[in-house]
Amino acid sequence: EVWNPSGKYRVVSTKPMPGTRWIRLLTDQDCRVEICTEKKTILSVEDILSLIGNKCDGVIGQLTEDWGEVLFSMLRRAGGKAFSNMAVGYNNVVVGAANKYGIAVGNTPGVLTETTAELAASLSLAASRRIVEADQFMRAGLYDGWLPHLFVGNLLKGQTVGVIGAGRIGSAYARMMIEGFKMNLIYYDLYQATRLENFVTAYGEFLKANGEQPVTWKRASSMEDVLREADVISLHPVLDKTTYHLINKERLAIMKKEAILVNASRGPVIDEAALVEHLKQNPMFRVGLDVFEDEPFMKPGLADMKNAVVVPHIASASKWTREGMATLAALNVLGKIKGYPIWSDPNR
Ligand code: DGY
Repeated sequence: EVWNPSGKYRVVSTKPMPGTRWIRLLTDQDCRVEICTEKKTILSVEDILSLIGNKCDGVIGQLTEDWGEVLFSMLRRAGGKAFSNMAVGYNNVVVGAANKYGIAVGNTPGVLTETTAELAASLSLAASRRIVEADQFMRAGLYDGWLPHLFVGNLLKGQTVGVIGAGRIGSAYARMMIEGFKMNLIYYDLYQATRLENFVTAYGEFLKANGEQPVTWKRASSMEDVLREADVISLHPVLDKTTYHLINKERLAIMKKEAILVNASRGPVIDEAALVEHLKQNPMFRVGLDVFEDEPFMKPGLADMKNAVVVPHIASASKWTREGMATLAALNVLGKIKGYPIWSDPNR
């Protein structure tokens, strides 16, 4: 699909993206926009090479693509200046290779914070109240009347939410769980989440003034403390060498038997095979997963686990957010082509 065919600058998007604002932004600034409409979901390096062709000023790409040495050197050869991932995470991008070839890299933070946090909160609730299991039970025609023990789950109020990685998304999630469900907070991060701490303190005082049990917060000195103490744990680190298999067999073993683990960050943060084993051994332990180690696949056995809620990497999938991500991705590329600083540069 081609927009503004006579545009001076050639910008390629490896996927159609929501909305038209991002296209207009580019075409209004003399860009020819080429959108790949190839049906297959995951494009190979070869597919992308042929999209880049001989002349390409910038590319908007997706987290399913491997942007490394080969693609950046070819983009450079085609006269390219910028690459923007339509995602906040850029573990699929070798930023060093982009730097080497003088290609600016952009990502799309900010616009997806609340949407992603809302999905992590949804997974927490779905797991704690066994929503998916109960839905399947209804649809299978198994409901034959109210029973005192039918689909009993956990009450979140007064329990402790554990956040590993209290950056933008982790903090937004924590606030939702604290304010929405009056949970206490324990978090682990290399940096102090001062605004989050201030929020919990102020909210605790508000509850107290209204005669309610105040919420509390604690910054854990080790991740293990979070795993041991929290009832619901949500993972929000970036994926890199230090966070690969952050949750492994040993760390699963120290979590509460009835804990809930949520992951809407990146799949390889959890050793998924160890998780499947843990779910089998601990039927009261529940997980809510948006991401998987070998996406789009699940490790054998996971799909059979009733104590797992699984969704296909949809954490940022609200209309507003996806249009915002597309717009930011376009702004990143446009900025560099026009010689302005790009909107969001993970190098900074
Ligand atoms: C991201 O942005 O990194 C998400 O995984 C997709 O929105």
